[in-house]
Amino acid sequence: MADFLTDVETLRRRARENIEQGPITSAYGADRERVISVLNEALATELVCVLRYKRHYYTATGLNAAPVAAEFLQHATEEQGHADQIAMRITQLQGEPNFDPEGLATRSHAEYDDSVDLLDMVREDLIAERVAIESYSEIIAWLGTNDSTTRRMLEDILSVEEEHADDLLSILQDIGNSTGR
Ligand SMILES: [Fe+2]
Ligand SMILES: [Fe+2]
Repeated sequence: MADFLTDVETLRRRARENIEQGPITSAYGADRERVISVLNEALATELVCVLRYKRHYYTATGLNAAPVAAEFLQHATEEQGHADQIAMRITQLQGEPNFDPEGLATRSHAEYDDSVDLLDMVREDLIAERVAIESYSEIIAWLGTNDSTTRRMLEDILSVEEEHADDLLSILQDIGNSTGR
């Protein structure tokens, strides 16, 4: 078996050097600045998703609206949780989470939507989830083994986005069946 660990003396010396970098050691394999900037795009995506779901929650009306609105609210809460996790990770990487509303929609991968029709809302939400799923999958593959903590966090978030997309598809099919659209 190959020797995989740096000798103890070297490990201890390196840990003492660069102490201001907190959890970031020489074993961190990714491009930290690039990861922070990608995470800030993910943060913007989550924040835009919170706003979109909140808008949909408060404006959903009609026969089928109540259970769908409840779903919008749950998704909004979960997207807020993702935003918090991502912001926390950015600070661990010694970066600054960008909450600036200026440019938020441009930094975000997914789009805002203010449709008035319930079916349109659900469709736009599903599209936004699919955008998030695709971009998280790409980021996860890009990180590989170079930043396991960020990758694991994004894998957890990705699985929730997949649940969201699945929920929305079911709703879309239910509404489609009941209204013949
Ligand atoms: Fe999310
Ligand atoms: Fe989502």
